[in-house]
Amino acid sequence: MTDEQKLTAAGNEMSASFLAAKKRSDETLAKLESNPSSFTMLTGDRPTGRLHLGHYFGSIRERVAMQERGVNTNIIIADYQVITDRDTTEHIQDNVLNLVLDYMAAGIDPNKTMMFTHSAVPAENQLLLPFLSLVTEAELHRNPTVKSEMEASGHALTGLLLTYPVHQACDILFCKANVVPIGKDNLPHVEITRTIARRFNERYAKKNPVFPEPAAILSDAPEIPGLDGRKMSKSYGNSIMLGATAEETAKLIKKSPTDSERRITFGPIARPQVSALLTTAGLVTGRDPKEIAEEIGDAGAGALKQYVIKSVNEFLAPHRERRAELAKDMDSIRDILHDGNKRANAIAEETLDQVREAMGMKY
Ligand code: TRP
Repeated sequence: MTDEQKLTAAGNEMSASFLAAKKRSDETLAKLESNPSSFTMLTGDRPTGRLHLGHYFGSIRERVAMQERGVNTNIIIADYQVITDRDTTEHIQDNVLNLVLDYMAAGIDPNKTMMFTHSAVPAENQLLLPFLSLVTEAELHRNPTVKSEMEASGHALTGLLLTYPVHQACDILFCKANVVPIGKDNLPHVEITRTIARRFNERYAKKNPVFPEPAAILSDAPEIPGLDGRKMSKSYGNSIMLGATAEETAKLIKKSPTDSERRITFGPIARPQVSALLTTAGLVTGRDPKEIAEEIGDAGAGALKQYVIKSVNEFLAPHRERRAELAKDMDSIRDILHDGNKRANAIAEETLDQVREAMGMKY
């Protein structure tokens, strides 16, 4: 099979539920184009480390675009999700503040986008109680992402790991988000969120639905492989951090593995490592990786790496400059987060109040 045939074969294995979600995503995006201000977006990240190029092209860029289009945009820094599968909160403070730095350096404007953390918004967390009553244990155990996260962690399944998709539903529904840009691995969590919204409305709020059924937004951006051709992962040390220095980036790219064939050609299946370098260069320059491969040709891997180093560092230079500038005043970064938390609390209180009202729990 050629690379292309293999990719098509993999594509055919996509499940019916994925295809349905993709269709909903495309239809929602079309509506969003014509009326952005009627949409509320919520998405977020776990503060487990720094953001890398994969995050940038896979999601951050899209968030900025939605913000600029006039969607009501919200970003949660999911600090309680950090302890779903690890037993320490070491560096959490630093990770949280660095996320805010990277978001802002990438173009997130705190006047337009609310940024906040789980742990600072009690009323959001309280939604977990009624929401847990709306799902069964069997449904929780069926979540494929939870299963694979448990296996990868090497830990026993904690109560929080089992239930965090419901907690993620609280993240999404407390601000009544109707669009949730995510990667494929988060799709089961948006599905359970839709189920929870529907069941809550059916059970407690038939006449006046409290929650929307949000659509997952699945990006068309290609998944960027790590520099060694494997999945980008912090533990493989194969990702280019947005906030790294130009020197660190050069060193990382220089030591990335290639193969013994001198001539540079593009073929993700046959030559994953060389192709990962070409894909990276393609994304940051906006060029076709095949064209870059042809241009480098017999000059070999050394020349390819020089090209990748130069183009990545050129692309990230403005981001890194803005980041360094912002980092000079960490007190304002903290203020921005406090302000986001304050706004999130006001919204969460209001939603929780509607929930109490719908459930007849206002005394
Ligand atoms: N689970 C997401 C991740 O893997 C982070 C996240 C937390 C999130 N809450 C969310 C994403 C709500 C979308 C909506 O990084």
